[in-house]
Amino acid sequence: MKIAVLRERADGEKRVAATPETVKKLLALGATVAVETGAGAAAAFDDASYRAAGAEPGDAAATVAGADIVLAVQGPEPASLAGASAGAWIVGALDPIGDRPRIDAYAAAGLEALAMEWMPRITRAQSMDILSSQSNLAGYKAVLDAAAEYGRAFPMMMTAAGTISAARVFVMGVGVAGLQAIATARRLGAQVSATDVRSATREQIMSLGAKPVFVEGVAGVEGEGAGGYAGETSPEYQRAQAELVSAHIARQDIVITTALIPGRPAPRLVTDAQVASMRPGSVIVDLAIEQGGNVEGAAPGEVVERHGVRIVGHRNMPSRLAADASALFARNLYNFLSTFWDKEQGRPVLDAEIGDAIRLTRGGQVVNPRLAL
Ligand code: NAI
Repeated sequence: MKIAVLRERADGEKRVAATPETVKKLLALGATVAVETGAGAAAAFDDASYRAAGAEPGDAAATVAGADIVLAVQGPEPASLAGASAGAWIVGALDPIGDRPRIDAYAAAGLEALAMEWMPRITRAQSMDILSSQSNLAGYKAVLDAAAEYGRAFPMMMTAAGTISAARVFVMGVGVAGLQAIATARRLGAQVSATDVRSATREQIMSLGAKPVFVEGVAGVEGEGAGGYAGETSPEYQRAQAELVSAHIARQDIVITTALIPGRPAPRLVTDAQVASMRPGSVIVDLAIEQGGNVEGAAPGEVVERHGVRIVGHRNMPSRLAADASALFARNLYNFLSTFWDKEQGRPVLDAEIGDAIRLTRGGQVVNPRLAL
């Protein structure tokens, strides 16, 4: 069983799908591991550390030649996989809906593509959940990015020259990223409030020492969808939420938005008029930017200024913390392979619950029902 790790080629992608630590563990399973030269360089893992772990870095073609499993952060170019074994697994964040032509190309090449972002959110799969591990870091980094753009301090400071008041931070969307954003802003000393459509988050917000800001008294529109995810809210709820947010946002210094609805464009939570109501020098970080954005006027990959407010729209937030993001991503992939490793066969064998959820292609066909169109 040969496992290959290629250098990521996507624009701005600094992460790597295996670290020296996970290479060592994969070798211990009985696999051989090949790593492309420079694969970890942008994430601060040099070739020498992979060599010390037991994988000799080589060029891309040699790395992929005869590979049974290719580990990736983003889906590799199908052409770069030409030398892999028949039916080889491609394991990574494959963006099945956003990059369908690539998935079709994997099918045509007879590869078995496994989309780790479609891992079911069940207890036993938590250690394999790349969405959680990466969102957590994104939530943290969003607050640091906001702090860097903000021309004021976060904590209250009482100095001989006078008192500085604490920054007011409002987190919209309290999933994994939002919870970490709340915790990080609290650690920096900010006064934090947060909102979500799922009422279960109210207690989580309070347990982190932040103030919940919730739509009250609009019946039956909790926005709770399947699998613990949010669903779309009713127009009535959206109106009530917009009013509540308008009143609140005008008094905030920093807004971090993280709201996503699986399979849909991100909900629009902040209008241009609401941006204009904030005082100059305020900062908004839109973590949903790659799904269309929560904030009117946010631009992917840019920091734009609207009405004196900076709106930060960095893409690929986890890649901005490439070393830790890689370490966790690589462990997610290792946990996945080791959980299903069959010692007798010397290879991983998936069960139906997880296999059917994440398998996109097999035997030349696109097989995932979510891709049946
Ligand atoms: P996500 O990234 O899909 O969305 C982020 C947040 O935005 C969610 O909390 C969502 O409710 C909120 N949101 C959506 N529309 C909104 C709107 N109009 N206004 C305000 N907020 C809005 O969510 P994420 O981070 O993936 O977490 C979703 C759920 O999955 C959470 O309950 C989390 O605890 C759970 N989870 C379970 C896991 C497991 O059991 N293995 C692993 C990770 C998360």
